[in-house]
Amino acid sequence: MAVSSQFDSDFLVIGSGMAGLLFAINAAKAASVTLLTKAAVTETNTAYAQGGIACVWSTGDSFQAHVEDTLRAGAGLCRREAVETIVHGGPRAIDELVRLGARFSRANGADGADYDLGREGGHSQRRILHARDLTGGEIMRALIEAASALPNLQILENQLAVDLLIGPAGAGNGGVARCLGAYVLDRADLSVRPHTARVTLLATGGAGRLYQNTTNPAVACGDGVAMAYRAGAAVANLEFIQFHPTALHHPADSFLLSEALRGEGARLRLPDGTPFMERYHQQAELAPRDIVARAIYAEMARHGLDCVYLDITHREADFVQRRFPYIVERCRAVGIDPTREPIPVAPAAHYLCGGVVTDLSGSTSIPGLYAAGEVAMTGLHGANRLASNSLLEAAVMALRAYDAAREEAFAVQVKAAGVALPALDSTPDADVEEVPRLMWEGAGIVRSNEGLERASQRLSLLRERHRPFDKGPLTPDEVEGENLLTVAELVVRSAISRKESRGAHYNVDCPSRSDSSWQRDTVLVRPAS
Ligand code: FAD
Ligand code: SIN
Repeated sequence: MAVSSQFDSDFLVIGSGMAGLLFAINAAKAASVTLLTKAAVTETNTAYAQGGIACVWSTGDSFQAHVEDTLRAGAGLCRREAVETIVHGGPRAIDELVRLGARFSRANGADGADYDLGREGGHSQRRILHARDLTGGEIMRALIEAASALPNLQILENQLAVDLLIGPAGAGNGGVARCLGAYVLDRADLSVRPHTARVTLLATGGAGRLYQNTTNPAVACGDGVAMAYRAGAAVANLEFIQFHPTALHHPADSFLLSEALRGEGARLRLPDGTPFMERYHQQAELAPRDIVARAIYAEMARHGLDCVYLDITHREADFVQRRFPYIVERCRAVGIDPTREPIPVAPAAHYLCGGVVTDLSGSTSIPGLYAAGEVAMTGLHGANRLASNSLLEAAVMALRAYDAAREEAFAVQVKAAGVALPALDSTPDADVEEVPRLMWEGAGIVRSNEGLERASQRLSLLRERHRPFDKGPLTPDEVEGENLLTVAELVVRSAISRKESRGAHYNVDCPSRSDSSWQRDTVLVRPAS
């Protein structure tokens, strides 16, 4: 049943990862849905997810334990209600993924678990459902197959959302300005057109591309955070960029080496074979991610190294091959055999813990605009996300957002009339290419007041050099460049303002955590012009 009349579709979904697809599949049961994505539908952070999805599944585990592990990793900034809601929502989300065709690796039935449950850093229990070592690829396969079968769901590739379309606060919209869709750039002919909808879901993922070394694919430019901020939505906690401890360090390739390797006993070693994690945390290799990443950084600095080594050679080669086929194959392609030799690794930017502020229905501060997945800030992650809680959050929140958006879409009398093309302010020049290096150096794993100030000044210079958008068609590079610059500015601003160290934000000039002054979110809202 497609009920749209004055709108291009009832629901507009921006992004084809786990959050966007799951929302769209549900919404398309009873309404018309357009899902657009800026590249191929498969090109998402979700597709590269390795370790898996955290969920209380075995009889030996409990919701309480998962909640406590999440709160501990989040270093005092999680919202307890968000943690409880999302952790408790796990089994429903897993059932939905399985119903849609996702096949997780099976166990032999030990401990009441029908699935093989992996272990990762910061978790007190084995609770990671996975599809060998490429869980996200399997989830994407299942969701794309399910989505392709739905007549009400139109998927448009190579369509880059440029800006949100905020409708006038006229009588037709109940006197409130609301999101009525987005302006979209077609990569084929560089035309920009409005796409209107009753409700819009922002599911644009993360911003790893802000940094020179990252596990994220090229699509992760922080577009959703930048668009939402420009539209006046509240964004928060952007200083909490999570660095994954172990990305392959090799001139020919760099990709994630899943925490599940450490969950299965892999050790971190210096070049001479000495393990070092016990010196940093009692959980050693399975300490929360911020601690492991900083420990590696410290050892690299102390010994003047480019990398340390991840060693799983003590496990049976057959086991390693069977459990981690993707990692083994990709390492062998560059001449490293993980079953026989330690793998060179270094930390890389991985996950945006902050984002567009939402409540537990996925609603943002702009009526008609929802956000789910990595782009959103629900309060689950606090200052540091617990491993494999991201896919969990994306799935649970996509379902919850749909439950709420369905109500809102048809309850409110909204109008899409009077929509004009955007007044595009400015676009960055090519210097924006400097942003990832500048962020790595000034706002990376270990920060300082001076480094952050230097990054801030350099970003201001880049901003000043913007040329007015007065000639030629807008290009995807310009849009992504503008977004990277905007999000970099917001990250640095947030990091400068937080005068303490907590979770993924570590500043050598204020190395302690200060709950009396800083146990609060860093919320930013663009001043009305
Ligand atoms: P994504 O899957 O990133 O999808 C975003 C979508 O938005 C893409 O389709 C993109 O093209 C589109 N998009 C972006 N901007 C625009 C725009 N302007 N216009 C149109 N489309 C746009 N988490 C876990 O919980 N467990 C793991 O094991 C795990 N492993 C990971 C491994 C890697 C290598 C990486 C990079 C991340 C991993 N994560 C993991 C994190 C997790 O994968 C992501 O946080 C999660 O998949 C995000 O899902 P999403 O739907 O929010 O966004
Ligand atoms: C990994 O497999 O190490 C990634 C897990 C995550 O990012 O949650």
